[in-house]
Amino acid sequence: MKFSIDDAITPEEVYLKRREFLAASGFAGASLLLRQAGAAAYVVNDPDRPVTKEEHATSYNNYYEFSLDKKEVRGVAGKWKRPDPWNIKIDGLVEKPFTLELSSFLKKTAIEDRTYRFRCVEAWSMVLPWRGFPLAKLIDEAKPKPSAKFVRFVTYVDRKAMPNIAGMPHYPWPYTEGLTIEEAKHPLAFMATGLYGKPLQNQNGAPIRLVVPWKYGFKSIKSIALIEFVAEQPKTLWQQLAPSEYGFYANVNPDVSHPRWSQAKETRIDGSFFPTKLKTLRFNGYEEQVASLYKGLDLKVNY
Ligand code: MTE
Repeated sequence: MKFSIDDAITPEEVYLKRREFLAASGFAGASLLLRQAGAAAYVVNDPDRPVTKEEHATSYNNYYEFSLDKKEVRGVAGKWKRPDPWNIKIDGLVEKPFTLELSSFLKKTAIEDRTYRFRCVEAWSMVLPWRGFPLAKLIDEAKPKPSAKFVRFVTYVDRKAMPNIAGMPHYPWPYTEGLTIEEAKHPLAFMATGLYGKPLQNQNGAPIRLVVPWKYGFKSIKSIALIEFVAEQPKTLWQQLAPSEYGFYANVNPDVSHPRWSQAKETRIDGSFFPTKLKTLRFNGYEEQVASLYKGLDLKVNY
Protein backbone atom coordinates (compact mmCIF):
# COMPACT_ATOMS: atom_id res chain seq x y z
CA MET A 1 0.00 0.00 0.00
CA LYS A 2 1.37 3.38 -0.93
CA PHE A 3 0.59 6.62 0.79
CA SER A 4 1.98 10.06 0.80
CA ILE A 5 1.31 13.03 2.96
CA ASP A 6 1.54 16.55 1.73
CA ASP A 7 2.17 18.34 4.96
CA ALA A 8 3.81 21.47 3.67
CA ILE A 9 2.68 24.30 5.90
CA THR A 10 1.14 27.35 4.28
CA PRO A 11 3.23 30.15 5.75
CA GLU A 12 1.02 32.11 8.11
CA GLU A 13 1.76 35.41 6.39
CA VAL A 14 0.57 34.07 3.04
CA TYR A 15 -2.48 32.56 4.68
CA LEU A 16 -3.41 35.78 6.47
CA LYS A 17 -2.90 37.87 3.31
CA ARG A 18 -5.20 35.49 1.46
CA ARG A 19 -7.83 35.84 4.20
CA GLU A 20 -7.55 39.63 4.15
CA PHE A 21 -7.79 39.75 0.38
CA LEU A 22 -10.83 37.50 0.27
CA ALA A 23 -12.56 39.33 3.08
CA ALA A 24 -11.80 42.77 1.58
CA SER A 25 -13.04 41.71 -1.82
CA GLY A 26 -16.29 40.50 -0.25
CA PHE A 27 -15.97 37.41 -2.35
CA ALA A 28 -19.05 35.24 -1.92
CA GLY A 29 -17.14 31.95 -2.06
CA ALA A 30 -14.51 33.19 0.38
CA SER A 31 -15.18 30.67 3.07
CA LEU A 32 -15.08 27.77 0.61
CA LEU A 33 -11.83 29.02 -0.89
CA LEU A 34 -10.34 29.56 2.58
CA ARG A 35 -11.31 26.06 3.50
CA GLN A 36 -9.63 24.72 0.40
CA ALA A 37 -6.55 26.85 1.00
CA GLY A 38 -6.23 25.52 4.53
CA ALA A 39 -7.06 21.95 3.60
CA ALA A 40 -4.36 21.93 0.98
CA ALA A 41 -1.78 22.55 3.68
CA TYR A 42 -2.43 19.30 5.59
CA VAL A 43 -4.11 16.46 3.74
CA VAL A 44 -4.11 12.69 3.80
CA ASN A 45 -3.38 11.66 0.26
CA ASP A 46 -4.12 7.93 0.36
CA PRO A 47 -6.87 6.19 -1.65
CA ASP A 48 -7.28 3.62 1.15
CA ARG A 49 -7.93 6.39 3.64
CA PRO A 50 -10.56 8.75 2.24
CA VAL A 51 -12.00 11.42 4.54
CA THR A 52 -14.50 9.74 6.88
CA LYS A 53 -18.13 10.63 6.19
CA GLU A 54 -19.42 13.34 8.53
CA GLU A 55 -22.31 11.13 9.57
CA HIS A 56 -19.89 8.51 10.96
CA ALA A 57 -17.54 10.96 12.70
CA THR A 58 -20.46 12.61 14.49
CA SER A 59 -22.38 9.48 15.46
CA TYR A 60 -19.66 7.02 16.56
CA ASN A 61 -17.94 8.70 19.48
CA ASN A 62 -15.95 8.13 22.62
CA TYR A 63 -16.98 10.62 25.28
CA TYR A 64 -17.21 8.59 28.47
CA GLU A 65 -18.68 11.39 30.58
CA PHE A 66 -21.87 11.13 28.50
CA SER A 67 -22.05 7.40 27.73
CA LEU A 68 -19.94 4.29 27.22
CA ASP A 69 -22.00 3.45 24.15
CA LYS A 70 -20.41 5.14 21.13
CA LYS A 71 -23.74 5.36 19.31
CA GLU A 72 -25.50 6.90 22.30
CA VAL A 73 -23.01 9.71 22.93
CA ARG A 74 -24.42 12.07 20.29
CA GLY A 75 -27.93 12.01 21.74
CA VAL A 76 -26.90 12.52 25.37
CA ALA A 77 -24.19 15.11 24.60
CA GLY A 78 -26.56 16.97 22.28
CA LYS A 79 -28.66 18.02 25.27
CA TRP A 80 -25.73 19.65 27.07
CA LYS A 81 -26.06 23.45 27.33
CA ARG A 82 -22.43 24.48 27.35
CA PRO A 83 -21.36 27.59 29.24
CA ASP A 84 -21.26 30.58 26.92
CA PRO A 85 -18.83 32.36 26.90
CA TRP A 86 -16.39 29.45 27.23
CA ASN A 87 -13.43 30.12 29.51
CA ILE A 88 -10.20 28.16 29.76
CA LYS A 89 -8.20 28.62 32.93
CA ILE A 90 -4.48 28.95 32.20
CA ASP A 91 -2.67 28.01 35.38
CA GLY A 92 0.52 26.69 36.98
CA LEU A 93 4.04 27.60 35.89
CA VAL A 94 3.19 30.61 33.73
CA GLU A 95 4.26 34.24 34.05
CA LYS A 96 0.76 35.10 35.31
CA PRO A 97 -2.24 32.71 35.53
CA PHE A 98 -5.29 34.02 33.66
CA THR A 99 -8.62 33.07 32.14
CA LEU A 100 -8.72 32.84 28.37
CA GLU A 101 -12.10 33.68 26.86
CA LEU A 102 -12.31 31.47 23.80
CA SER A 103 -14.24 33.64 21.33
CA SER A 104 -11.99 36.68 21.91
CA PHE A 105 -8.90 34.50 21.44
CA LEU A 106 -10.31 33.05 18.20
CA LYS A 107 -10.97 36.53 16.80
CA LYS A 108 -7.26 37.34 16.86
CA THR A 109 -6.03 33.88 15.81
CA ALA A 110 -5.52 32.62 12.25
CA ILE A 111 -7.79 29.63 11.73
CA GLU A 112 -6.54 26.68 9.69
CA ASP A 113 -8.02 23.49 8.24
CA ARG A 114 -6.12 20.24 8.72
CA THR A 115 -7.05 16.77 7.64
CA TYR A 116 -5.38 14.21 9.89
CA ARG A 117 -5.49 10.46 10.33
CA PHE A 118 -7.12 9.58 13.68
CA ARG A 119 -6.29 6.20 15.29
CA CYS A 120 -8.11 5.06 18.42
CA VAL A 121 -6.32 2.70 20.83
CA GLU A 122 -9.29 0.35 20.30
CA ALA A 123 -7.93 -0.30 16.76
CA TRP A 124 -10.38 1.69 14.65
CA SER A 125 -9.55 4.73 12.58
CA MET A 126 -10.95 7.69 10.70
CA VAL A 127 -9.61 10.57 8.60
CA LEU A 128 -10.95 13.85 9.93
CA PRO A 129 -10.98 17.40 8.54
CA TRP A 130 -10.41 19.58 11.59
CA ARG A 131 -10.57 23.37 11.83
CA GLY A 132 -8.69 25.27 14.51
CA PHE A 133 -5.20 26.55 15.34
CA PRO A 134 -1.83 25.10 16.37
CA LEU A 135 -1.57 24.43 20.11
CA ALA A 136 1.77 26.32 19.97
CA LYS A 137 -0.23 29.57 19.56
CA LEU A 138 -1.96 28.99 22.87
CA ILE A 139 1.32 28.06 24.54
CA ASP A 140 2.78 31.39 23.37
CA GLU A 141 -0.23 33.21 24.80
CA ALA A 142 0.16 31.38 28.13
CA LYS A 143 3.84 32.39 28.53
CA PRO A 144 5.10 29.32 30.42
CA LYS A 145 8.12 29.65 32.69
CA PRO A 146 11.30 27.70 31.77
CA SER A 147 10.50 25.33 34.66
CA ALA A 148 7.30 24.17 32.85
CA LYS A 149 8.16 20.76 31.38
CA PHE A 150 4.66 19.32 30.84
CA VAL A 151 1.19 20.57 29.95
CA ARG A 152 -1.85 19.14 31.72
CA PHE A 153 -5.31 19.41 30.12
CA VAL A 154 -8.60 18.94 31.99
CA THR A 155 -12.13 18.50 30.59
CA TYR A 156 -15.09 20.55 31.82
CA VAL A 157 -17.27 18.78 34.39
CA ASP A 158 -21.06 19.12 34.38
CA ARG A 159 -22.38 16.30 36.55
CA LYS A 160 -25.99 16.96 35.60
CA ALA A 161 -25.48 16.91 31.85
CA MET A 162 -22.81 14.19 31.91
CA PRO A 163 -24.63 11.27 33.53
CA ASN A 164 -21.83 8.76 33.20
CA ILE A 165 -19.60 10.67 35.65
CA ALA A 166 -21.89 9.43 38.40
CA GLY A 167 -22.39 6.16 36.49
CA MET A 168 -18.67 5.31 36.73
CA PRO A 169 -17.76 6.49 40.25
CA HIS A 170 -14.48 4.51 40.27
CA TYR A 171 -13.13 6.58 37.36
CA PRO A 172 -10.74 9.33 38.52
CA TRP A 173 -12.74 12.18 36.96
CA PRO A 174 -12.28 14.76 35.55
CA TYR A 175 -10.86 13.44 32.25
CA THR A 176 -7.24 14.57 32.29
CA GLU A 177 -4.49 14.31 29.69
CA GLY A 178 -0.96 15.58 29.24
CA LEU A 179 1.89 16.27 26.83
CA THR A 180 5.52 17.21 27.24
CA ILE A 181 6.09 20.88 26.49
CA GLU A 182 8.04 19.88 23.34
CA GLU A 183 5.12 17.77 22.10
CA ALA A 184 2.71 20.61 22.85
CA LYS A 185 4.81 23.04 20.80
CA HIS A 186 5.13 20.64 17.85
CA PRO A 187 3.53 22.13 14.71
CA LEU A 188 1.24 19.09 14.25
CA ALA A 189 -0.33 19.43 17.75
CA PHE A 190 -3.65 21.15 17.11
CA MET A 191 -6.56 22.70 18.99
CA ALA A 192 -9.76 21.97 17.08
CA THR A 193 -12.82 24.18 17.27
CA GLY A 194 -14.40 22.82 14.10
CA LEU A 195 -14.89 19.71 11.99
CA TYR A 196 -16.07 19.51 8.35
CA GLY A 197 -15.91 23.31 8.19
CA LYS A 198 -18.54 23.68 10.95
CA PRO A 199 -18.24 24.39 14.68
CA LEU A 200 -17.51 21.25 16.70
CA GLN A 201 -20.57 19.42 18.00
CA ASN A 202 -20.74 18.44 21.67
CA GLN A 203 -20.05 14.76 21.00
CA ASN A 204 -16.78 15.67 19.25
CA GLY A 205 -15.54 17.87 22.10
CA ALA A 206 -17.11 21.30 21.61
CA PRO A 207 -16.19 24.03 21.87
CA ILE A 208 -12.48 23.16 21.87
CA ARG A 209 -10.46 19.94 21.99
CA LEU A 210 -6.93 18.75 21.52
CA VAL A 211 -5.90 16.75 18.42
CA VAL A 212 -2.53 14.96 18.54
CA PRO A 213 -2.57 12.91 15.32
CA TRP A 214 0.49 10.74 16.00
CA LYS A 215 -0.90 9.47 19.32
CA TYR A 216 -3.79 7.18 20.19
CA GLY A 217 -7.09 9.05 20.20
CA PHE A 218 -7.53 9.04 23.98
CA LYS A 219 -4.80 11.72 24.22
CA SER A 220 -7.06 14.06 22.19
CA ILE A 221 -9.01 15.37 25.19
CA LYS A 222 -12.37 17.08 24.62
CA SER A 223 -14.11 20.24 25.92
CA ILE A 224 -11.04 21.68 27.64
CA ALA A 225 -11.62 23.91 30.68
CA LEU A 226 -8.15 24.01 32.26
CA ILE A 227 -4.62 24.02 30.89
CA GLU A 228 -1.95 23.79 33.53
CA PHE A 229 1.82 24.04 33.09
CA VAL A 230 3.68 21.71 35.46
CA ALA A 231 7.21 20.50 36.23
CA GLU A 232 6.43 16.78 36.62
CA GLN A 233 4.73 14.33 34.24
CA PRO A 234 1.02 14.63 35.10
CA LYS A 235 -1.09 11.54 35.84
CA THR A 236 -3.78 11.10 33.20
CA LEU A 237 -7.19 9.52 33.75
CA TRP A 238 -6.30 6.38 31.78
CA GLN A 239 -2.93 5.95 33.49
CA GLN A 240 -4.59 6.08 36.88
CA LEU A 241 -7.21 3.59 35.81
CA ALA A 242 -5.06 1.07 33.89
CA PRO A 243 -1.35 1.99 33.90
CA SER A 244 -0.26 -1.22 32.15
CA GLU A 245 -2.63 -0.52 29.24
CA TYR A 246 -2.46 3.22 28.65
CA GLY A 247 0.88 4.99 28.86
CA PHE A 248 1.65 8.69 29.03
CA TYR A 249 3.22 8.90 25.57
CA ALA A 250 0.76 6.56 23.81
CA ASN A 251 2.33 7.06 20.39
CA VAL A 252 0.64 4.95 17.71
CA ASN A 253 2.85 1.89 17.28
CA PRO A 254 1.90 -1.21 15.26
CA ASP A 255 4.83 -3.15 16.80
CA VAL A 256 3.68 -2.90 20.39
CA SER A 257 0.46 -4.72 21.23
CA HIS A 258 -2.04 -3.51 23.75
CA PRO A 259 -2.03 -6.16 26.54
CA ARG A 260 -5.43 -7.36 25.27
CA TRP A 261 -5.17 -6.96 21.46
CA SER A 262 -2.75 -6.38 18.60
CA GLN A 263 -2.14 -2.86 17.30
CA ALA A 264 -0.81 -4.03 13.93
CA LYS A 265 -4.06 -3.30 12.07
CA GLU A 266 -7.02 -0.99 12.33
CA THR A 267 -10.63 -1.07 11.18
CA ARG A 268 -11.59 1.86 8.96
CA ILE A 269 -14.89 3.35 10.13
CA ASP A 270 -16.74 3.68 6.86
CA GLY A 271 -20.25 2.46 7.67
CA SER A 272 -19.90 -0.79 5.76
CA PHE A 273 -20.93 -4.15 7.13
CA PHE A 274 -17.46 -5.58 6.42
CA PRO A 275 -15.24 -2.55 6.99
CA THR A 276 -11.77 -2.37 5.47
CA LYS A 277 -8.78 -3.35 7.62
CA LEU A 278 -5.68 -1.22 7.19
CA LYS A 279 -2.11 -1.68 8.35
CA THR A 280 -1.41 0.67 11.24
CA LEU A 281 1.42 3.12 10.58
CA ARG A 282 4.11 3.95 13.10
CA PHE A 283 3.33 7.31 14.70
CA ASN A 284 0.12 7.02 12.66
CA GLY A 285 2.08 7.98 9.54
CA TYR A 286 3.69 11.09 11.07
CA GLU A 287 7.03 9.44 11.91
CA GLU A 288 9.09 11.76 9.73
CA GLN A 289 7.71 14.80 11.50
CA VAL A 290 7.73 13.63 15.13
CA ALA A 291 10.32 10.85 15.60
CA SER A 292 12.96 13.38 16.67
CA LEU A 293 10.87 14.10 19.80
CA TYR A 294 11.53 10.54 21.02
CA LYS A 295 15.24 9.99 20.41
CA GLY A 296 15.87 8.61 23.88
CA LEU A 297 12.84 6.31 24.01
CA ASP A 298 12.84 2.60 23.11
CA LEU A 299 9.98 2.27 20.61
CA LYS A 300 9.55 -1.41 21.48
CA VAL A 301 8.03 -0.40 24.79
CA ASN A 302 4.51 0.84 25.31
CA TYR A 303 4.94 4.06 27.29
N1 MTE B 1 -12.16 13.33 26.04
C1 MTE B 1 -13.00 13.24 27.08
N2 MTE B 1 -13.18 14.31 27.87
N3 MTE B 1 -13.69 12.10 27.38
C2 MTE B 1 -13.51 10.96 26.64
O1 MTE B 1 -14.14 9.92 26.94
N4 MTE B 1 -12.36 9.89 24.76
C3 MTE B 1 -11.09 9.88 24.02
C4 MTE B 1 -10.85 11.20 23.29
N5 MTE B 1 -11.13 12.34 24.17
C5 MTE B 1 -12.61 11.01 25.53
C6 MTE B 1 -11.96 12.24 25.24
C7 MTE B 1 -11.02 8.78 23.08
S1 MTE B 1 -10.80 7.24 23.77
C8 MTE B 1 -11.11 8.95 21.75
S2 MTE B 1 -10.82 7.67 20.67
C9 MTE B 1 -11.46 10.26 21.16
O2 MTE B 1 -11.71 11.25 22.16
C10 MTE B 1 -12.69 10.11 20.29
O3 MTE B 1 -12.97 11.31 19.60
P1 MTE B 1 -14.25 11.38 18.64
O4 MTE B 1 -15.42 10.86 19.39
O5 MTE B 1 -14.42 12.82 18.28
O6 MTE B 1 -13.92 10.52 17.45
